[in-house]
Order: sequence, then C-alpha cells, then structure tokens
Amino acid sequence: MARKLVLITGASSGIGEAMARVFAKKGWDLALVARREDRLKALAEEMKAQNGVDSLIIAADLAKPGEPERIVAEIEKAGRHVDGLVNNAGAGQPGYFTETGWADQERFLQLMVTAYLQLIHLVLPGMEERNFGRIINVSSVSALLPIATGHTRFSGTIYPGAKSLLIKVAQAIKAEMTGKNVHATAVCPGYTWSEFHDVNGARKSISQLPSYWMLTAEEVAVSAYDAVERNVACRVPGAWYKFMTAMMRILPDPVGEWLIAQQSRRSLQRAQARKASAE
Ligand SMILES: NC(=O)c1ccc[n+]([C@@H]2O[C@H](COP(=O)([O-])OP(=O)(O)OC[C@H]3O[C@@H](n4cnc5c(N)ncnc54)[C@H](OP(=O)(O)O)[C@@H]3O)[C@@H](O)[C@H]2O)c1
Repeated sequence: MARKLVLITGASSGIGEAMARVFAKKGWDLALVARREDRLKALAEEMKAQNGVDSLIIAADLAKPGEPERIVAEIEKAGRHVDGLVNNAGAGQPGYFTETGWADQERFLQLMVTAYLQLIHLVLPGMEERNFGRIINVSSVSALLPIATGHTRFSGTIYPGAKSLLIKVAQAIKAEMTGKNVHATAVCPGYTWSEFHDVNGARKSISQLPSYWMLTAEEVAVSAYDAVERNVACRVPGAWYKFMTAMMRILPDPVGEWLIAQQSRRSLQRAQARKASAE
C-alpha cells in the first residue's frame, strides 16, 4: 500500500521542519513547500536516509496569489494526493497599523489567511471522498490571550485575528466532518525557538524572557500530531501556556487584560532601553 502524503508549508525551518520530522518518523511521505528550495532538498535527503520516506519539493512564495492551486496541481501531476495538510508557513508584519502600508497588510493576509484557507478548500473534498484526512493549522496562543502591543508591534496588528480565524476554521471543519475519518486541529503555540523572531526583529526582546516561556519546535510538532490524531480542534502545547490560557478563561477580562498589558509594557521598556543604549 502506498504511503500517505502530508503537504507541509513552511518546511524549511522552525515548526514546519519539525512537523516534517515528526510525520516522516510516523512513515508519511512529504510534500515540502517554502521559498528556500536548498533547505527543503537537504531535509528531504535526511528524511529519506533516516526514515525511508519520499519527498516532493515544491518551491513557492505563498504570499503570491495562485500558488496553492499550483502546489496541489504539482502533487497530482506526480500521481499523488494530499492525505495530510500542515498549514504553517508564515512571518510577522512588524509595525503598528498606522505605520504600515496596505500592500504589506494584503501580502500578510495572502500568506497567513488566504493561502491557508485555499489549500484546505483544494484538498478537503478528496479527503472526504477517501474518508481520510488530517489538517493542522498552525495558529498561535495570541489568538487566545488579550491583545499585547508588545506582541503586535513585531507580529502585526492583524496577527492575533488571523490566528483566531484559523482556530474557528479548524473547529468548523471538525464539526462538518463529524462521523468521518477527517480530522482538523489548530495548534496554538506560545513563543517558540525558530527563525520567526529573527525575521520580525523581536529576537532581542524574546531572548530576555524566562526559559519556561520558550517552546521547542519539536514540542509543538509532537503536540500537534497527537492532537490531530485525537481530533482535538484546538491544542495549546506546553504547561506554561496551558496555565496562562486556563487563567484567562477564569479571570475577569479587565484583570487578564491588565496582566498582559503589564508584561507587554515591560517588554516595550526593555526594547526602548536597548535602543537608547545603542544610540
Ligand atoms: N515562533 C513562534 O514563537 C510562533 C508562535 C506561534 C505561532 N507561530 C507560527 O508558526 C508558524 C511557523 O513559524 P516558525 O516559528 O516556525 O518560523 P520560521 O522558523 O521563520 O519558519 C517560517 C517558515 O515559513 C516559510 N515562509 C515564510 N514566508 C513564506 C512565503 N512567503 N512563502 C512560503 N513560505 C514562507 C519559511 O520558509 P522560506 O523563508 O524558506 O520561504 C519558513 O519555512 C507561523 O505561521 C507562525 O505564525 C510561531
């Protein structure tokens, strides 16, 4: 029997690369997508040597419209279909809303929302027909916590809202696929070691957080795989973030907002102090 195939976006680093390692260890073939093709090729070779699985490499810029259709068409041209989808590729949009142009926000929405939804829309009918599918949306704990400006200034004003949408969509698909072997999960990581904070410029701020705030990409991927197998619609990896999100459900909104605002104020003060000492 042919091995199942999982399409993973943003597989060239961080959480996406860790997802590829977890799925490959479980015996899945991979369709690896990102812009840095050399990294995808190296990962594919490593997964072949370690786990004997095959990979399709598809270099794509998901901030450009039309890429989801091309990716799925390439997979079909190779005689394969998508059994699993990990919607993960992403980057922040630094700057407050008033400081950024609409073209940047549109690009962000294409990469972080439209491409995710379009990929699901392209592969879900086949999953339903074959009565097998696993979909993971990489969301964020920011979707479950009060807004922190110390976070949105690096990741983007729309970021928490975009990540909230991914949770609701996973929940809706899980509901629509009730009784079928098609599962959908949104995994909601907190701060995770990856290249994300190098790309959005927050690395110095993040490096001052206590170590229990930091997750590894592997922890996130293992948790996400477990959640999608169990058909859990929303999973928060890590004890600290489970505690934080549980507290926010219990506390009155103003108290939760005050706590997050304090944390955010401290991180902005640290950033300003660093800027001042560099000048
Ligand atoms: N790190 C965190 O603290 C954290 C927390 C919560 C949620 N997340 C989410 O986790 C996901 C993965 O991020 P990460 O932390 O693993 O960061 P990362 O190490 O920077 O990985 C981002 C991945 O997305 C790909 N990517 C970025 N822009 C792309 C584009 N235009 N087209 C195609 N691929 C693109 C990158 O590949 P190329 O550059 O090669 O294209 C890379 O493989 C993101 O959706 C992020 O929002 C991260």
